[in-house]
Amino acid sequence: MKIRLTFGALALAAAIPVLASGVFAADAPKVPSGPHPITQDIPAEPMGREVTDDIKKVRNYADQPPLIPHAIRDYQIDLNINKCLTCHDRKNTEGSQAPMISVTHFQDRDGQTLGTVSPRRYFCIQCHVPQTDAKPIVGNSFVDIDKVLGNGALGGGKEGAK
Ligand code: HEC
Ligand code: HEC
Repeated sequence: MKIRLTFGALALAAAIPVLASGVFAADAPKVPSGPHPITQDIPAEPMGREVTDDIKKVRNYADQPPLIPHAIRDYQIDLNINKCLTCHDRKNTEGSQAPMISVTHFQDRDGQTLGTVSPRRYFCIQCHVPQTDAKPIVGNSFVDIDKVLGNGALGGGKEGAK
């Protein structure tokens, strides 16, 4: 009897994560294309159109890697070539009229400024990303610092954390 009870308790304990994950699944972001039966053929959602208007996007905070306002499809970045640097490197900006990578991109992890781009800033799209016109599937309550300051104390503003 005692053994049977223990088994019962074990079975219940094993079921708890399943029950809990069911609750979380209900909170998951709703994607318009799903859920639907696996056997049903559903046409794929159209992909977002890339934003390539060449207009600088405002940075949300001083240290934000600026967003890429132009197309980067098929731009090669590997051991042999870095397409981005053909326009953004110091010596190429006169011809391309692209903004030069800033001084932080020449600094190694000890803060020493090198003659060329630092290896830790070589893979540009690790930090810089283009945008599409896709609607965000989850909300975002980010508040710009200017709005925070404009509304008085941190977190006490009308649009601050509630
Ligand atoms: C053919 C030249 C060219 C290439 C190649 C190129 N860019 Fe650009 N980039 C520009 C120019 C010119 C601008 C200025 C805005 C514009 O005209 O689109 C710019 C703007 C940017 C900006 C915005 C800077 C700011 O202050 O807002 C970022 C970030 C950027 N590029 C990153 C990249 C990355 C990453 C790559 C490689 C994947 C790349 N670019 C490849 C020419 C280029
Ligand atoms: C580790 C992240 C990281 C990587 C990798 C990186 N960047 Fe940046 N980039 C930043 C940040 C952060 C800023 C803004 C602050 C600053 O200048 O450091 C920036 C700024 C820029 C700017 C604007 C400079 C200005 O003065 O307005 C350009 C252009 C740019 N990056 C291009 C590139 C290119 C091209 C590469 C690849 C060779 C690259 N970045 C790699 C993080 C990165």
